Amino acid sequence: MVRQKFFAVSSVIVGTALALSLTLTAAPKAGAGKADAAKGKEAFEQCAICHNVDNDEKKMGPSLKGLFKRKTLANGKPVNDANVLAQINAGGNGMPAYSDMLSADDKANLIAYLHTL
Ligand code: HEC
Repeated sequence: MVRQKFFAVSSVIVGTALALSLTLTAAPKAGAGKADAAKGKEAFEQCAICHNVDNDEKKMGPSLKGLFKRKTLANGKPVNDANVLAQINAGGNGMPAYSDMLSADDKANLIAYLHTL
């Protein structure tokens, strides 16, 4: 009897844990749920010195117009949130590294904004 009760309780626990992990997996990644493209646009002002967004002309850095419609970044990696975030964090080749200069929220907002270009 006691044993059965234990199994019942533990299967409820396992069930809950499973449901919880399913919810977590289904949730949008990297804080995308609260990413705000309008805030990202504001944050982008510091990037706009080097990046055009309304024409294809290169400034210090390549234009980011239509970035997420491209297949690859200049470094040859596929264009996706993770690789764009890596570029923002690490910079390189004339771009400053923003890993410590921007919060995770700022970066998520920036990426949301870049998706609109
Ligand atoms: C001082 C100039 C400068 C600033 C400021 C700057 N970047 Fe860049 N960025 C560059 C350069 C130069 C490259 C090209 C690097 C390379 O070819 O490896 C680049 C590359 C990129 C790329 C990859 C583009 C591609 O086609 O591969 C992204 C995305 C990007 N920058 C986003 C940003 C964002 C977002 C900001 C603001 C947080 C920013 N950059 C600020 C100079 C800058």
